[in-house]
This record gives sequence, C-alpha cells and structure tokens, in this order.
Amino acid sequence: MASNSVKTTLKKEKIAIVGSGLIGRSWAMLFAGAGYNVVLYDIKDEQVTSALSDIKIQLEAVKKSGMLRGTLSVNEQFNLISGSNDLEKTITGAKHIQECVPENLDLKKSVFKNLDKYADESAVISSSTSCLAPSLFTEELPKREQCIVCHPVNPPYYVPLMEVIPSRWTQKNVVERTKELMTEIGQVPVLIKKELPGFALNRIQYAIIGECWRLVQDGVMSAEDVDKVMTAGLGPRYAFLGPFEVMHLNAEGMQNYIDRYASSMKSVSADFGPVPTFDGAALNEIVKDMNSQIPLDKLEERHQWRDARLLGLAKLKKDMDVEQK
Ligand SMILES: NC(=O)c1ccc[n+]([C@@H]2O[C@H](COP(=O)([O-])OP(=O)(O)OC[C@H]3O[C@@H](n4cnc5c(N)ncnc54)[C@H](O)[C@@H]3O)[C@@H](O)[C@H]2O)c1
Repeated sequence: MASNSVKTTLKKEKIAIVGSGLIGRSWAMLFAGAGYNVVLYDIKDEQVTSALSDIKIQLEAVKKSGMLRGTLSVNEQFNLISGSNDLEKTITGAKHIQECVPENLDLKKSVFKNLDKYADESAVISSSTSCLAPSLFTEELPKREQCIVCHPVNPPYYVPLMEVIPSRWTQKNVVERTKELMTEIGQVPVLIKKELPGFALNRIQYAIIGECWRLVQDGVMSAEDVDKVMTAGLGPRYAFLGPFEVMHLNAEGMQNYIDRYASSMKSVSADFGPVPTFDGAALNEIVKDMNSQIPLDKLEERHQWRDARLLGLAKLKKDMDVEQK
C-alpha cells in the first residue's frame, strides 16, 4: 500500500472511471490517493452524485482510522475527483480508463465499443470484470491491443491484489504499464498469463468452497466448524504467507516438503469428490446454519464488522512492513 512517508506528487495525467458503483468509487479513491486527476462517469447522474458524497465520507473514515493513502489531505484527494455525465469528455485524454459497469457480457461489449471509439491511441483501456476473459468483449475492436482486464478484490483499499489479465492481442507494453500503474498506486499486481475462467483468485476460492461444501454435504463437519478451519487455522497463516512459502517453511525447503508429503497430498487430493451441485440437502443445511449464525437482518452490521477487521489487518501488515514482495 502507498506509504505515508513518501510525499505524494500531483500527477498531470487523467484517469477515467466508467461506472460509479461500489468498485468505481474504490478505484477513484485509489487513484486520487496517488495524486491522479480522476473523472468518474456513470450512465445515471444520481449515481455520480451519490458516488462523490460517498467518497468524501469514505475518505474521512479512512483518515480517521489512520489508513488514508499517500500524503495528500482528504480535501486535496477529494478535489482531484470530478463527476461527469459525458462519456466522450471523460475518456478523451485519459491515460488509463477503468471500466466498472455491472458484470454482463453484452453490456461490457457495448461499453467497450464506446471506450474504444473515444480512447486516445496511447490509453490503456481496462475492465474490472470479475470473471470475463478480455477477448470475449474486445475481439472486434480497432483498439483491442490497448485492452486488458485489471480485476480488484473487494474492498480494494484494504485488499491490494490486482489480477492483470491480457488477451492474446494485448500489447506487452500495455501489460507492463498496467502493472507499473498498479504498483505506483499501492496495489499488488499479479499477471495471469493465459485467459481462463475465474482468473486465479476465484479459481483458488472456488476450490476451497468446493471442498468446504463436500465436508458438510458428506456429514463430516458443520458449516460453522468448516468456517473455523479457515478463521482459526489456514486464514491467519495465509494472511502473511502464500501456500508455496508455507510449504517451503514447513519443512527444510520446498524439495524436502515434497519428499516428505507428496504422497499424502496425492492420496488426500485423489479422495476429493466431484464438483458439488450446490443444491439439495447440503444447501438447506448450510443456509440454515448461516442464517442462524448471522440472521439476514444483521448482514449490514456484519459487513461493518468485516471491514473493520480487514482494515485492522491492513494496518497491521503496513506496520509490520510485510507487504507482498
Ligand atoms: N463488487 C465487487 O466485490 C467486485 C469486485 C471486483 C470486481 N468487480 C467487478 O466490477 C464491476 C462493477 O461492479 P460493482 O460491484 O461496482 O457494480 P455496481 O452495480 O455497484 O456499479 C455499477 C455501476 O455501473 C453503472 N452503469 C451501468 N451501465 C452503465 C453504462 N452503460 N455506462 C456507465 N455506467 C453504467 C451503474 O449505474 C452503476 O453505478 C463488475 O464487472 C464486477 O464484476 C466487483
């Protein structure tokens, strides 16, 4: 995350954000924190208005928590962000365009057609899509070599990973510039070298969910206890180390880990069942268990609880200077 010790310089370049919902607002805060001029566009005027007032509140809240990015004040950062209802003006002259419209392939295609029309020849045209491969909505575009996916993780202000996914025709230089920009604004980019469904984070997440589901479905554990396996077991460790480093440290290096544990890993992995269908009795049991732990009318309260903990963890990581290499 952007360090508070290095003075943030005001950048001359413009960043365009298209779609000012949950993720568009987060992008605006990330770029303003690094000193960029941000123009926030939405098809609905009222979304832009509410995004701007929400961003002000969020910036004040992160300032209060000691996690405001960069060295500019809340007002200086907020003043870098402006709203727009004119797509052409928003896009023209932007060095980086970040699309944040709802996850729908036809919508992404039509929005990208317009971004392609108005974008400068040197602009990077990036999508926040959570699972659509960039070639699905850029193939027909004249500026398809400038298009890429840069997928954030919610909430991006505290969870810095950015999955960067080029298509076969994305220019190398666009990939490099996207990674550099993400690093500059304090995020942690990783490159997904081949287009594949779910990129990396969701593939890994779905593998975990699949096994958690089977453990409940097969009567091995309750949903509540499965969650504890993560929160009291794997989670704390993975907040600091990735699975490969865990292996490397849990033996005398990676090779030694494999020598010792490869046969167990193979036999346990071979015991995994098929992909769950996520329905039937297991679904009923998991829904019942979750609704009794966190009733639906307490979800908002629990979101705040979660965000406060993610903030605390981000702060701890910053203080311990253990950001990802
Ligand atoms: N919410 C998350 O946790 C999350 C995380 C990572 C990535 N994403 C991805 O980010 C994208 C946006 O998600 P979100 O959660 O911010 O959605 P959202 O529904 O909160 O916001 C979408 C915004 O896009 C606007 N919009 C709709 N059509 C438009 C158009 N043609 N032009 C301009 N604006 C338009 C809507 O008015 C709305 O303000 C999706 O692709 C999603 O998969 C979401």
